[in-house]
Amino acid sequence: MLRDELQRWHKGVLAELAAAASVEAVEQLRVAALGRKGELTRILRGLGQVEAAERPALGELANRLKESFSQALGERLGVLQKEALAARLEAERIDVTLPGRERSVGGMHPITRAMGEITAVFTALGFATASGPEIESDWHNFGALNIPADHPAREMHDTFYLPDDAGGGKRVLRTHTSPVQIRVMEGRQPPLRVIAPGRVFRCDSDVTHTPMFHQVEGFLVDTGVHFGQLKGVLEHFLRRFFERELPVRFRPSYFPFTEPSAEADMGCLFCQGGGCRICKGTGWLEVLGCGMIHPNVLANVGIDREIHSGFAFGMGVERLAMLKYGIDDMRALFDNDVRFLEKFRQ
Ligand code: FA5
Ligand code: MG
Repeated sequence: MLRDELQRWHKGVLAELAAAASVEAVEQLRVAALGRKGELTRILRGLGQVEAAERPALGELANRLKESFSQALGERLGVLQKEALAARLEAERIDVTLPGRERSVGGMHPITRAMGEITAVFTALGFATASGPEIESDWHNFGALNIPADHPAREMHDTFYLPDDAGGGKRVLRTHTSPVQIRVMEGRQPPLRVIAPGRVFRCDSDVTHTPMFHQVEGFLVDTGVHFGQLKGVLEHFLRRFFERELPVRFRPSYFPFTEPSAEADMGCLFCQGGGCRICKGTGWLEVLGCGMIHPNVLANVGIDREIHSGFAFGMGVERLAMLKYGIDDMRALFDNDVRFLEKFRQ
C-alpha cells in the first residue's frame, strides 16, 4: 500500500508540475511535495509500520521517485525561467536603431551665425582672420587712423573713454574694428588680405543702434589696388551673404582714414523702399563704410605709399543680420528673450 501511495504521489506531483505555469508555482509545489511538512514526509512516516524486510526496497523506491521528481522539477524550472526571461526582454525591448531624442541645448545666436557666414565668404576669397583688443589705445583707435585729438571726426563716434593706463596713455573702448588694421599692418608687410570680426562700443541706442555692436573689418594691401576691386569684392560679398538680389547703392562719404570714401546702403527689406522707422523713411539702411586706405595711415605703420595701396571696409553685423533674418528691432538681439532666439534655431 505504501508502494501504491508512493507511486500515486509521484504521478500526482508530476501532473501538478506539468500544470505549474510560473516559477513561483513550481516553487510552491516543491515545498508542498518535498518540504519537511510536505506530502512525501507524511507518506514516509508510514514506513515505521511496514515490516522490516520490506523497508529497504520501499526506501529505495521512495528515493528514486523523489530523485525523479526533483529532476523533473529542475528541468521545468529551467524552462519557465527561460520563458520568463524571454518575456521580460520582449517587454523591455529597446530599438537601438531609432533616432535619438533631440535634447534642447540651445542654438546659435543670430549675431554669431551672421559673423560665421560673413567670415565664410571672405575666407573663400583668401582673406585671413585677425583680432585685436576691445580696450584700445587712443593711438590705435584714432591717432594712427588719421584722427588727431582735436579732429571733429571724433564726434562721429560716441566714444566711451576709460581712465588712462599706468603710463598715462589714453584708452578707450574701441569704437570700431579699424584699429585692427593698424595692429596687423604694424607687424607685417604687404601683400595683406585680412578680415577682423569683433565687438565695438558706442554711446548710442535706438532701433538701429546699440551701445555694443559687432563689426567685421576687412582690408587688402598690395600693389596697384584700386576702388573698382573694392566695389567688386563688396558686391560679391553682399550677393553671397544675402543669397538673393537686394538693391545696393554706394554713396560718397567721408572717413579720415580712407580717401576716397564711400558707404554702402541696402534697400530696406521691411518697407521695400517705401520708407519706415527702420530706414528712417529713406528706403535704405547703411550697412558698411569703405574706401581706399589713406596714405597717411600707410605712412603711420611704415608701409611705402609709393609702392603700395589698399582698400578697407567695416560692416555692421547687426544691420546685416536684421536684413538677412528680418529682425525689425536691433535691441531684440540683446534682450536674450528665449522666444525670440528660438525663431533662429537651426
Ligand atoms: C566705421 O566704423 C568705420 N570704421 C568703417 C570703415 C572701415 C570705413 C574701413 C572705411 C574703412 P561707421 O561708423 O559708419 O564706420 O560704422 C560702420 C557700420 O557699423 C555702419 O555702416 C553700421 O552698419 C554699423 N554701425 C554703426 N554704428 C552702429 C550702432 N550704434 N549699432 C549698430 N551698428 C552700427
Ligand atoms: Mg556710417
